[in-house]
Amino acid sequence: MEEIVTAEEAARYLKVHPKTLQRWCREGKIPALRLGNRYRLRLSDLRPADASAVDAPVSADRSAPAPAPAGGRRARIIAVANQKGGVGKTTTAQALGAALADRGDRVLLVDLDPQASLTASLGLRPDELEQTIATLIARFLDGDEPMDPAAVIVPLDDRLALVPSNIHLSAAEVTLPNQVRREYVLGEILAPIVDAYDWIFIDCPPSLSLLTINALTCADSCLVPVVPEPLVTVGVGLLFQTVARVRRTRLNPGLSVAGVILTKVDARPTLTRGVIDDLRATLGGRVPILGEVRGSIRVQEASASGIPLTRYRPAADVARAYREIAEALDAACRSG
Ligand SMILES: Nc1ncnc2c1ncn2[C@@H]1O[C@H](COP(=O)(O)OP(=O)(O)O)[C@@H](O)[C@H]1O
Ligand SMILES: [Mg+2]
Repeated sequence: MEEIVTAEEAARYLKVHPKTLQRWCREGKIPALRLGNRYRLRLSDLRPADASAVDAPVSADRSAPAPAPAGGRRARIIAVANQKGGVGKTTTAQALGAALADRGDRVLLVDLDPQASLTASLGLRPDELEQTIATLIARFLDGDEPMDPAAVIVPLDDRLALVPSNIHLSAAEVTLPNQVRREYVLGEILAPIVDAYDWIFIDCPPSLSLLTINALTCADSCLVPVVPEPLVTVGVGLLFQTVARVRRTRLNPGLSVAGVILTKVDARPTLTRGVIDDLRATLGGRVPILGEVRGSIRVQEASASGIPLTRYRPAADVARAYREIAEALDAACRSG
């Protein structure tokens, strides 16, 4: 006799969030019987290939039963993270995203900071937005039907788009800790759109909170902007410990560190060079330094104008530096 399981049991079996499994059922990605508003599945329909995903609890849809749409290639998801504020995470996410979009890639920027600097730096008024990443998270946690992330995405041009944020995201820091599979929520939300982009950059908040852990859990790699100042190696060490923990606890065993980016580099060489040498020693050749961005007034000017840095003054040194880092990141992702 055929063994029939509930959607919850099937979700546990495939190690995906129950809502992801419900979505697969709804979208016909997996055969299911509908009983009222509940689904039942045949155990034999959870193919052995899917069961192999049991040991690979990365992002849910990477283990989805349905293949990616024809011609679709999953986005490389990059978490731009450092628990220290003011080190250039937002600037880096925005500048690299625009640089890669200008090369012809499809790029989604995700503002995961309640302070919404990325949203504001792209000319939007965070406090006036009704639909943001906070809405997606709240609807994922509360609603029966997860919301289509496309409804929240703000297209900036035909290659570059933004999932904006605002202060309501701070509520997620309170509600998330009580949820099932709380570290996987962002990955589950982004899963339906990962085939629509070549890159997704997640601009993390300045903390190692559950929001940052969510970004690290769904990312392929993280990118770490660092201002070369005395004691910087301590903070970077803490972040790398977090990355190691995310791998070790199997939240995301495949997470890599794509590299460090030196930002706001001071033109006065002696002190800075000493710090950079210390940092290189700490990284020990395992993590590359992808590039250096000098301190420049152009960064704040671009941010105030609402135009991405690499487009504001394309010939400026900082814009060139970010374009080179975009190439280095692309090369690192291709080889790794
Ligand atoms: N290379 C740079 N030169 C000068 N100012 C910079 C540079 N990078 C970032 N900034 C400025 O530093 C501040 C913090 O940068 P931001 O990217 O918001 O950092 P984070 O997201 O890590 O908090 C912003 O005012 C930004 O304009
Ligand atoms: Mg920021």
